[in-house]
Amino acid sequence: MAYSEKVLDHFANPRNVGELENADGIGEVGNARCGDIMKMYIKVDNDTITDVKFKTFGCGAAIATSSMATEMIKGKSINDALNLTNTAVMEALDGLPPVKVHCSVLAEQAIKSALSDYYTKQGIDPEPIVGKISHDDEV
Ligand code: FES
Repeated sequence: MAYSEKVLDHFANPRNVGELENADGIGEVGNARCGDIMKMYIKVDNDTITDVKFKTFGCGAAIATSSMATEMIKGKSINDALNLTNTAVMEALDGLPPVKVHCSVLAEQAIKSALSDYYTKQGIDPEPIVGKISHDDEV
């Protein structure tokens, strides 16, 4: 399966690349099998994700999915971000080859990891809200 135009575009021109100074939440996840790492920074104001940036040391699909995922949560509520699935990210990119599905899982987990850090910083136990984050995914 070839990559869609959207995947190629988000890989070649990734949105929201970088770091956020004074981020309210920082998440980092990796995939043990391929060794790819994704770092996600979020700014939160009044339950809204006002800004988000990412750094991905990984494959093209990981870069494209993190780029698309950041676009999908920017300006949205924390709840929307928590409900963003890797399937929704893949659909927004017009699909990914089956061997690249785990890359989109990494993007979903990176957002959850950043939200988990956000709650921890607020003194709130994140696990009942965000669920368990796999920092080293074997998918
Ligand atoms: Fe591992 Fe894409 S090959 S994240």
